[in-house]
Amino acid sequence: MGTLNEKKILLIISGGIAAYKILDLIRNLKKKNCEIKTILTESAKEFVTSLSIASLSQNKVYENKFDLNNEIEMDHIALSRWCDIILIAPTTANLISRLASGSADDFISTVISASNKDIFLVPAMNVEMWNNPATEENVKTLLKYKYKFIGPVVGDLACGEVGEGKMSSINEIENTLAHYFAKKNNSFSKLKAVVTAGPTREYLDPVRYLSNESSGKQGYEIAKKLFDSGFDTTLITGPTNLNYPENLKIIRVTSAQEMLEQCQNLFPIDIAVCAAAVVDFQPNYQSEKIKKEESSEYNFKLSKNVDILKHLSNHVKYRPKLVIGFAAETNNILENSLKKIKDKNCDWIIANDISDKSIGFNSDNNEVTIIYKNQQIEKISKAAKSEIASEIVNRIIKSLGTNNVRNIN
Ligand code: CTP
Repeated sequence: MGTLNEKKILLIISGGIAAYKILDLIRNLKKKNCEIKTILTESAKEFVTSLSIASLSQNKVYENKFDLNNEIEMDHIALSRWCDIILIAPTTANLISRLASGSADDFISTVISASNKDIFLVPAMNVEMWNNPATEENVKTLLKYKYKFIGPVVGDLACGEVGEGKMSSINEIENTLAHYFAKKNNSFSKLKAVVTAGPTREYLDPVRYLSNESSGKQGYEIAKKLFDSGFDTTLITGPTNLNYPENLKIIRVTSAQEMLEQCQNLFPIDIAVCAAAVVDFQPNYQSEKIKKEESSEYNFKLSKNVDILKHLSNHVKYRPKLVIGFAAETNNILENSLKKIKDKNCDWIIANDISDKSIGFNSDNNEVTIIYKNQQIEKISKAAKSEIASEIVNRIIKSLGTNNVRNIN
């Protein structure tokens, strides 16, 4: 049984077009043996019915009003004590605003203000509403109050516009909750995961360097999901413009050599995910700035950089139990990845097509194919990089069951 087994979820549905998707979520969570009680806002009733939710959840559906019968059977305090978590999906801009202001004037807001449990918000709204300064302030306030956010992600919105505001997929909501409970159970706290991310910079002189366009987003999202699932996670990152959560262990490096040394300092590692776009060559470093007027032509020699993925995969003493590499390809993705997995001796290669600008470098979305050592191939369809990361971490967790990883107990 998975980490969601027998978990009690108080589900609050607020009124948005995405509410209809929650029926699938209820069905999936029930299959995983969750117990679900639901409260519907008045406007949610325009999108889903109490009857459909009651039949899917096989449980009581409350309305957002004080009702003598409700209070006798289970009052707002008892309901907030009954559950393991509260999940509000979809969460509208209006509900976000009411939570940020600390309202306690209806059934939902009293349940929430009386709660001693973690509360997950799954926003869904128009991109302008999400980017509205008032909403932004409210979200900051709610983060300060320790509310947990799932999404939103960038995508096609119900209103016909495109942007950030789309509700996270049902898969992502389930994955996030499963990872949360894995962390709570301390399931993976003894497993050390290391993720490399971002580009490296190889300096020619004090001001010039070789590098690439890697944003670091995919590696960062994987590190975040491993951390959120309770792994002892360290992110080793080259220079990026990303904001990192305070509690994630981060080591900032510049060159490939530094990245390798920091990996070695962390031995023994259980899971290594090499998502960094490491520059393959290293120039001879000149400590004085190269002067362009000295010559109309400048030739510099490049030597091959150490291959961190290969080094980890072939380490005699400290080979991690699971080593995952990435392959950014423009053509012959499968053929090249299968060659790479053999050449590098890693366990999986996660390949993506960088010729498609809507995925890969700098994009918020990705679409990947996982190639396993046994030549099994699995495609993960286009989704936000955070959602792709959840799917990858799910597969890492599944592989632990069969991989006899160090220290797992
Ligand atoms: N990698 C590494 N150290 C290097 C080079 C690559 O750890 N010096 C890792 C990357 O983090 C990634 C994988 O190896 O996981 C990519 O392999 P690579 O052969 O470098 O892929 P490409 O750059 O796509 O190589 P090529 O241009 O030869 O296809």
